[in-house]
Amino acid sequence: MTTPSTDLPSIPNAIAPLFTPALAAELVALRRDLHRHPELSWRETRTTGALEQVLGTLGIDDVRRVLETAVVARVPGRVRGAPEVAVRGDIDALPVREATGLPFASSVDGVMHACGHDVHATWAVGAAALLRASPAHGDVLVVLQPAEELGQGAARVVESGALDEARAIFGAHVDRRFEVGQVVADVGPVNASTDTFEIELVGAGAHGARPHESHDPVVALAAIVMAAQTLVARRLDPALPGVVTVGAVHAGSAPNVIPERATMAGTIRATLPATRELLTSELGRLAEQVAAAYGCAARVTFKDRTPPVVNEPQATAWARTAAERVLGSAALVPFGTTNMGGEDFAYYLEKMPGCFMRIGAREPGGERIAAHSPRFYAAEESLFIGAAVLAEAARVASEALAS
Ligand code: NI
Repeated sequence: MTTPSTDLPSIPNAIAPLFTPALAAELVALRRDLHRHPELSWRETRTTGALEQVLGTLGIDDVRRVLETAVVARVPGRVRGAPEVAVRGDIDALPVREATGLPFASSVDGVMHACGHDVHATWAVGAAALLRASPAHGDVLVVLQPAEELGQGAARVVESGALDEARAIFGAHVDRRFEVGQVVADVGPVNASTDTFEIELVGAGAHGARPHESHDPVVALAAIVMAAQTLVARRLDPALPGVVTVGAVHAGSAPNVIPERATMAGTIRATLPATRELLTSELGRLAEQVAAAYGCAARVTFKDRTPPVVNEPQATAWARTAAERVLGSAALVPFGTTNMGGEDFAYYLEKMPGCFMRIGAREPGGERIAAHSPRFYAAEESLFIGAAVLAEAARVASEALAS
């Protein structure tokens, strides 16, 4: 087991000149403070207060709340009225009990920054500070977004109109599959769509000893769980990624009673809109028809739906240029996998081109701890890298959009 370092992190050489000691200390302190005080989705009130305070300390004075727990800071560019671009950091934590052993581990029982959004929020604040010191061509909107873990916050920020003028957007995720100093900025799908489904089966209850008097929803449920496995195996083109997982089933209250109802819930993942449409519509059709075969009715509903994140080529080229300028061309590495995790950054990409990157967060020789694990943490050196790459991506895009 890797023991997380507790020393102050060193700034990677390539970007050390960008950070004054005061800024570096402020960012490390902010990240540790956020990590110690994680808040669940839509409850990020202390978090947004801390972020606003640090933005103020760093001299960013155009800061406003666009939702109860969403903050947008405007960092002025060199040219008034030039095209605007946006940088996004998400800020919410997860219902996970922390087991990192960090000295700044969560002080809130059962809540943890297990997905690194403490680091993402700090990147965005750091990018704002770097852009204030060395402005982009046009204004940069720095979005501190709540409720990513529910797949809800981004859509609400978009609806608020706060980004109506933005012409491109950049964001990133910490990732311990990659070492500190490595950056992934690939064109195309980088996060899957997520569709949470619930299926309610209604049959007819009976005594467990007289099944012929029932329409047993438990048997129908079992048949649907098994049949759902054929969606990927037999409906989907083998060349295309897709997932159908049933994660929860509930039925009955006694061993000798056939219940009237049964429910199941799960998630569908896909990297392309057409795959997503196929799997969701086929699940509905299959559930209804299998249920009918057992004399039951199925009601299929979907919620917490996010589209796939598909990086647009031009914006991705800008992000790659930025990573190369900041860290050198050796820093760029391919994702090398199909990522079936969801990410609500997708909602921004429905409105404007953008690129969602992965920023390496594993110390040399460290473990590849998965996000959402109780032992997940990001090596702190990645704080500076994410801030520098996002700020530079905004500069490159801003310059290109103006010409
Ligand atoms: Ni995350």
